[in-house]
Amino acid sequence: MIMYEELVRRIGEIKKERNAVILAHNYQPPEIQDIGDFIGDSLALCKKAAEVDADVIVFCGVRFMAESAVLLNPGKTVLLPEAHAGCPMADMADAQSLRRLKKRHPDAVVVCYVNSSAEVKAESDICCTSSNAESIVSSIPEDRRIIFVPDRHLGGYIREKTGRPMILWPGYCPVHRKILPGHIAEMRKAFPEAKVLVHPECREEVVRLADFTGSTGGILTYVSQSNASSFIIGTETGIIHSLKKENPAKFFIPATSDAVCGDMKMISLEKILHSLQSMKPVVRIGDRTAEDALKPVSRMLDIG
Ligand code: 13P
Ligand code: SF4
Repeated sequence: MIMYEELVRRIGEIKKERNAVILAHNYQPPEIQDIGDFIGDSLALCKKAAEVDADVIVFCGVRFMAESAVLLNPGKTVLLPEAHAGCPMADMADAQSLRRLKKRHPDAVVVCYVNSSAEVKAESDICCTSSNAESIVSSIPEDRRIIFVPDRHLGGYIREKTGRPMILWPGYCPVHRKILPGHIAEMRKAFPEAKVLVHPECREEVVRLADFTGSTGGILTYVSQSNASSFIIGTETGIIHSLKKENPAKFFIPATSDAVCGDMKMISLEKILHSLQSMKPVVRIGDRTAEDALKPVSRMLDIG
């Protein structure tokens, strides 16, 4: 077994040789966040992927995120160090069923959450992430119906915020669904001074109990700007590493320690090193799908 320092040294060396950059999501294990060149939420990583000047992008996250990097960088090699790191919510929507739903509502604008496959994106009109979903939905002309795919919780939250009627796909994040109103109530009782911060993928009953609802990036910004000193965190627990690093004097309590995304934790330093050595697994998307899937992602980035 290679020691931690040696692994980090070797990764640094081969990264230079390959002219590679490491992008890591806020839910990645601490040691991955620590070696990432850029850490962020889905939107920030999408934007970073669009502007990086490197030949190789090592994506430490899950497949749909790496696919977005491929769409935005057709000439670059995108590596996902663990090919099986997927998103169970993204897997709840497939292109064929979406085509059927579109046939039933031919006038509807399809908004896909970035947590979706390239095939589903290719069937969609515009993409969104949890940090821009409200502005994306608000940009759609008032007279158009909206199909929101695949997260029914984020969709429901945006439906309430914007007042726009929406047809919601019945998908959900199994990790965020583990956070229950009882967890929030229990933690509030134990830490009455703490602010409750949750992700919009949480159940509606949980979101209703929060002081702030936002993307992982939104939660990080909220904490850095808040005068409060303790926070109950209603999202995947990996974010607590970045929160502690950026706010060493503040205190963080997970709403439940069960909110762990197994797919996000599949990436390891060993896998990153191996991936850079073997230049595998490369994330690929068929030309036709890529051409169609890029359109909704570009529209989202154009809106900002
Ligand atoms: P963010 O866009 O907030 O980083 O969320 C991604 C995600 O997968 C949440 O479960
Ligand atoms: Fe998918 Fe949920 Fe994991 Fe995010 S936390 S990647 S939505 S399963």
